[in-house]
Amino acid sequence: MSRCRGAARPRGGSISRVEPISVLDYEPLARERMHPAAWAYLCAGAEDEVTLRENRAAFERLRLVPRVLRGVSAPDLRTTVLGTPVEAPVLVAPMGVHGLAHPEGECASARGAGEAGTLMAVSTVSSRSIEEVSACATGPLWFQLYVYRSRGLAERLVRRAERAGCRALVLTADSPRWGRKERFLRVAGSLPPGADAASIDSEVGEEDLAPAALTWEDVAWLRSVSSLPVVLKGVLHPEDAVLAVEHGAAGIVVSNHGGRQLDGAPASIEALPAVVEAVAGASGGRAEVYLDGGVRRGTDVLKALALGARAVFVGRPVLWGLAVGGAEGVRRVLGLLRGELEHAMALCGQASVGGLDPELVSRGAR
Ligand SMILES: Cc1cc2nc3c(=O)[nH]c(=O)nc-3n(C[C@H](O)[C@H](O)[C@H](O)COP(=O)(O)O)c2cc1C
Repeated sequence: MSRCRGAARPRGGSISRVEPISVLDYEPLARERMHPAAWAYLCAGAEDEVTLRENRAAFERLRLVPRVLRGVSAPDLRTTVLGTPVEAPVLVAPMGVHGLAHPEGECASARGAGEAGTLMAVSTVSSRSIEEVSACATGPLWFQLYVYRSRGLAERLVRRAERAGCRALVLTADSPRWGRKERFLRVAGSLPPGADAASIDSEVGEEDLAPAALTWEDVAWLRSVSSLPVVLKGVLHPEDAVLAVEHGAAGIVVSNHGGRQLDGAPASIEALPAVVEAVAGASGGRAEVYLDGGVRRGTDVLKALALGARAVFVGRPVLWGLAVGGAEGVRRVLGLLRGELEHAMALCGQASVGGLDPELVSRGAR
């Protein structure tokens, strides 16, 4: 099977016997270790994977224009997300069923994220329950909520996330139905063992687990049932960003779900500037804007931060690290991105991740 399209790696000899030196080096190593159906599920974008590829291509089209002679020797990467301190603005995206990548599943990922000094968003469909993940975690957690037709289930999940100490709720807004992951359907159509959603209680039937067609009222509903801050994930249109702020979202994730939902949606890095501008106008900068989709290099992180993201979430590379080395693999993947970000900031003459100059990014290269 081909490797993940849309995650290009320099051609060359096998790297499987040497220590990975970039995040992309983990991809073929992870593939060797994973069940073919699990691998196809992890890689897949929706339909023709145009958006999946575009997430990477759009980052590659942007240029960083460095500033020189600024005396920056040790850039400061530390920041906060909704008040929680993190060592670097590189967070772990919510992804279902880490058990497909490693038997310890989200317990290992949460340890790796904590050891890297960052936070992890735990998916509704995690292969370890939210209570188990919280018991293993060495760093802060957020909880990602899919609201299914059963609102009772959603409310029970919220209560459990609160009790487990999660610090924010990430409501995924881009999934009124599941994207068609044809790459996966061609290989299998069902997931191998390790794909059980451990936090979903047995009180609900199949019918109740169909995705719900949510409205803005549901954001208000979620805010009414929990005092945790709500982050809306899957926003691409600036008017939706304004509505999110008006409905009380504390944060917005500019995301196309890693190209897994609507094929043909824009790359998230292309959608980011208009969302940042709209949010600044609507909230006076109070709501935080994050980005995910195609982040594979420290320079990608720097581009997103310069264009106004407070932090980025990383998806598939975390699962590559998990498949290759469990918690240590996750820590290393996050550490590589952090090291590359630090390096890129030094080369760009940027002392800290707050107050980055937007002029750092140029779209001029044709
Ligand atoms: C295997 C897999 C499972 C995912 N599961 C979820 C999920 O349960 N909830 C969610 O909001 N997003 C989910 N996502 C989307 C990620 O949160 C994120 O938006 C995306 O992976 C970012 O793109 P990247 O993989 O290019 O970094 C999933 C992505 C992958 C690859």
